[in-house]
Amino acid sequence: NKVGVIFDLDGVIVDTAKYHFLAWKDLADELGFEFTESHNELLKGVSRVRSLEILLDIGKVELSEEKKQDYLVSKNEHYLEYIYKMGPEEILPGASQLLDALDALGIHYVLGSASKNAPLILKQVNLFNRFAGIVDGNSVSKAKPDPEVFLIGAQKLNLKPEQCVVFEDAIAGVEAANRAHMISVGIGDAKTLHEADFNFNNLTELPQDFFTKVISEKIS
Ligand code: BG6
Ligand code: MG
Repeated sequence: NKVGVIFDLDGVIVDTAKYHFLAWKDLADELGFEFTESHNELLKGVSRVRSLEILLDIGKVELSEEKKQDYLVSKNEHYLEYIYKMGPEEILPGASQLLDALDALGIHYVLGSASKNAPLILKQVNLFNRFAGIVDGNSVSKAKPDPEVFLIGAQKLNLKPEQCVVFEDAIAGVEAANRAHMISVGIGDAKTLHEADFNFNNLTELPQDFFTKVISEKIS
């Protein structure tokens, strides 16, 4: 029973959600409305364009297409200021250990991220060369919760969707994994991610035998 893993990036491998939040909050401030951490949950896993639409809905603001384009550019410029300061110390607890464990087990893994900045972020934290493949916001036409990103990931792994385990911190991402008929693992608040097949607060909580026992039993 072969198995492969697809990792979301933001919020699973690195904590970039806080930088997205700061950059979006700045825009909300500029437009004159409140944008909270709980609003931010709705933006997790969602593409940049869709994030702006959700943000504008929250603030009940309507903008011209041209203005929207301007704000998408300035939001990303602001976000990148944080990204360029990132280093390997910002890899989330348990992530490097999990990649090491998968390497030792001979289990292949790819990235399945909505972010167009994913390659840059992986380079910043020295993980770019570890993945067997990278599917990011540049390679998909439909954003999470559409399963496209993970289905392309399964192709890169040469596995069937049922043989893939997806690690996700976002509601939209768990939904995408479920719609792809993959095994979904929610990383973060179990109440928020209750649709996942498995839940852990963070990657350090994964049991030692998660792949050798739990997953292999589920797949066989
Ligand atoms: C996802 C994040 O990984 O990438 C979202 O969870 C973000 O919050 C999306 O909007 C797109 O990222 P980027 O880097 O292309 O703006
Ligand atoms: Mg995420």
